[in-house]
Amino acid sequence: MDFPRILSGNWDTPDSHRLAVAKSRGVYSQLPRALAMAPNDITQIVKDSGLRGRGGAGFPTGMKWSFVPPAEKRQGKSVYLLCNADESEPGTFKDRYCLWLDPHLLFEGMAIASRALDCHVGYIYIRGEFRYIARRLEEALAEAYAAGLLGKNILGSGHDFDLYVHVGAGAYICGEETALISSLEGEKGQPKLKPPFPAVEGAWRSPTIVNNVETLAVVPWLIQHGAAAYKALGTEKSPGTKLFSVSGHVRRPGVYEIPLGIPMMQFINEYAGGLLPGRTLKAVIPGGSSVPVMTPAEVAICSMDYESINTNAGSYLGSGGMIVMDDTTDLVAALTNLLRFYAHESCGQCTPCREGCGWMHQILCRVRDGEASEVDLGTLRDLADNIHSKTICFFGASAAMPVQSFLTKFRSEFLDRVQRRGVGAA
Ligand SMILES: Cc1cc2nc3c(=O)[nH]c(=O)nc-3n(C[C@H](O)[C@H](O)[C@H](O)COP(=O)(O)O)c2cc1C
Ligand code: SF4
Repeated sequence: MDFPRILSGNWDTPDSHRLAVAKSRGVYSQLPRALAMAPNDITQIVKDSGLRGRGGAGFPTGMKWSFVPPAEKRQGKSVYLLCNADESEPGTFKDRYCLWLDPHLLFEGMAIASRALDCHVGYIYIRGEFRYIARRLEEALAEAYAAGLLGKNILGSGHDFDLYVHVGAGAYICGEETALISSLEGEKGQPKLKPPFPAVEGAWRSPTIVNNVETLAVVPWLIQHGAAAYKALGTEKSPGTKLFSVSGHVRRPGVYEIPLGIPMMQFINEYAGGLLPGRTLKAVIPGGSSVPVMTPAEVAICSMDYESINTNAGSYLGSGGMIVMDDTTDLVAALTNLLRFYAHESCGQCTPCREGCGWMHQILCRVRDGEASEVDLGTLRDLADNIHSKTICFFGASAAMPVQSFLTKFRSEFLDRVQRRGVGAA
């Protein structure tokens, strides 16, 4: 399939993380042009492109940027730009490729965004386990500063933008934007109720834009090629290309950039290499572990875009972390493993999430071990229903949706396990 590789086009070039190589590949070519543009014109291109945030929710990026109050309403407050490089969602491993293989593309995107947002300080918030990537980012930052591409008076434009790398301590919840902001401020990484939304009141109570790595790395291409070219890719409501990380029972797990909207089976077969020989498809989690699971029948009718997955399978494209499971998978064990993660990562502020995730995990362990009854399945369902939408942040729903969907769509597997109670289970 012929389409521009907007995000991954430089990944195969040796030393693509070095400034000289990046520049030879066209990185930073759009920065002078963007710095000469009126800030609102940059935002308008992003709006017109229909780019949707790649962190999971798919919120329109240009619209988010336009929520930042104009200078006269900011009472002298600065605007901050935060790049969310926490990437801790199970199944999602795309941002680390952008950071490792093309850090300058991200810096260019952030510098252009800073111009649009009248922002002079930005941070890349990166998860603690990515310390080796943080070191590479620091080296790349030093090169960019030395070349006048970041810092004071970038390329003589009069625009200042300082960019820092901030390493978190490895908590999944610090990927949630308000928790990320608290952590950056030096507080406990715990989410806050919204509103106020960060674009109005975020870091240090100032307007703050939080965007995913992939979202920001697309911006230079939008400046170069324009909104119409971007909209020509993908579907009407899900324009552009997107990175998908695919893992599980496929022959070629990895990260692939594709135009949104291609059939899901085509993606699994042509990009991920298809299933292992002799195996059949059992289930797919399409968008990182936090979204509802899909059955093979749903996979067959879905395409890789926000609308199709939601309309046809009641699930979400999310962060694009696809987990493929074949007929050898023990789905009860798989869900139990997922809930172990959520029980461990709950920040503990809300009772339904703090207690409920632990309880769901405990019940699932008993189901897995053949020690539960059908009543326990009802309790499990009840717990999930009472966590969803009753918590400060979306983490609660993220833990509840896998449970609700596995229990609904693969009920027989769970029933089979509880009906074998007392006779020992695999
Ligand atoms: C529990 C939880 C974890 C999250 N983790 C991430 C993450 O690792 N990376 C990310 O970009 N967004 C993550 N998000 C979404 C962010 O809160 C935020 O919506 C996103 O960074 C906005 O960027 P975008 O508009 O470019 O998508 C998470 C949300 C929740 C509720
Ligand atoms: S839902 Fe969970 S992770 Fe989110 S604030 Fe409440 S306790 Fe913390």
